[in-house]
Amino acid sequence: MKRDFVYIGELAQHVDEQVVLKGWLYQKRSSGKIKFLVLRDGTGYLQCIAFKKDVSEELFEQCDRLPLESSLTITGKVRADERAPGGYELSIVDLQVIHEAGEYPIQPKEHGVEFLFDNRHLYLRSRTPQAVLRIRNEVVQSCRDFFYERGFVLIDSPILTPAACEGTTTLFETPYFDTTAYLAQSGQLYLEPACMAFGKVYCFGPTFRAEKSKTRRHLTEFWMVEPEVAFMELPQLLELAEDFISYIVGRVLDRCAEPLKILERDTTSLERVKVPFPRITYDEAAKILMEPESQAKMKEAGAPLFENGSDFGALDETLLTERFDQPVMVTHWPAEIKSFYMQPDADDPTKALGVDVLAPEGYGEIIGGSQRVHDHDLLLERIKAHDLPVEAFQWYLDIRKYGSVPHSGFGMGIERCVTWLCGIPHLRETIPYPRQIHRLYP
Ligand code: 4AD
Ligand code: MG
Repeated sequence: MKRDFVYIGELAQHVDEQVVLKGWLYQKRSSGKIKFLVLRDGTGYLQCIAFKKDVSEELFEQCDRLPLESSLTITGKVRADERAPGGYELSIVDLQVIHEAGEYPIQPKEHGVEFLFDNRHLYLRSRTPQAVLRIRNEVVQSCRDFFYERGFVLIDSPILTPAACEGTTTLFETPYFDTTAYLAQSGQLYLEPACMAFGKVYCFGPTFRAEKSKTRRHLTEFWMVEPEVAFMELPQLLELAEDFISYIVGRVLDRCAEPLKILERDTTSLERVKVPFPRITYDEAAKILMEPESQAKMKEAGAPLFENGSDFGALDETLLTERFDQPVMVTHWPAEIKSFYMQPDADDPTKALGVDVLAPEGYGEIIGGSQRVHDHDLLLERIKAHDLPVEAFQWYLDIRKYGSVPHSGFGMGIERCVTWLCGIPHLRETIPYPRQIHRLYP
């Protein structure tokens, strides 16, 4: 592919040369006989300097008038300068305006979060969103590489589905000709048949939950990566999950030093992430949450007090993860608070062979998974007990009729993982265009 300009990211190969760059005006300032223009082009930021003595008067004056985010072609000489951000500077020889921007709404001052997300289409150009989304890019690629390198086959699951996977309270409905379709909450049900064909499979796509909760951990549209493996039981699933997470963390530490620095992420806790991760049962976790010290913290925060047998709230997860400096895997959940498809523990059928992986530093659940019910009659009983429409699950039950085997899988929410790795407070930053209960725009 031929280009008539170079990228800022390529300047190392052009020191002391004259080059042409194309990009947008990110910042500018002026000091007497010098104008400073910061150009950004997606590969980096470059301080370009116009010296009064070197350029035409017209160009020199123009630098002051140029609105931020105008698109420019700049010609100049590259200088290596250790003090310059990025290590290079450019002395401007010529400047052409491709398009003069209108007054740019996002200025280098504090804007409210709502304003920034109403302008997400422009906010994407700012430094922090770019750093976060570059880390997301690395996480997504790591997920694909991890499974591909281990012989998993990608199986794309449908988004329009006839039934619920993760509980009917968070289902999005949409008219579908003369019937009703639901937006997929998970690809899992479609992966289970596929693992009986390919052995090891995964899917990776958008999933939808009509979450009425306005928390910083919930989106209505998010991306989930889900492996599913035949002949795998809970202990091996835990090993797969911890290998997966430590691989992703390693890749991000290796390849995202720059964006992590922009985010001022203290990476000491990420560098500690090493297999094996601690494993605790739900009962052990519940014991921690019932301690007077934990209960006092819940009271202090005005959060509901944890009760044995119930699901964890956000603060419960935070309190649990504070006890460990690694991601922690909570297993053996009360069957009645978990999904219909989870295999019961043979020693105590009131417990389900499920796992939640909680990220450290208070980030909470990033992975949910389980061993699946592989007995036909037990599964049928479960579907009925959960008031789910048996006809819609006939195909899913079928899998238990033809060479059924124990199998397991999990799902990791990409945005939950990226939020943790970036060390930022809210999930909405980690997806290009967040969808939340009150946000469908832009
Ligand atoms: O724990 P969940 O509901 O599990 C499942 O959907 C299983 N069917 C996955 C499987 O076994 N194949 O969701 C899995 C993960 C959560 O741990 C969390 O990271 C993320 O998906 N997640 C959300 N992320 C953002 N917003 C939401 N509303 C989310 N709900 C779940
Ligand atoms: Mg879950």
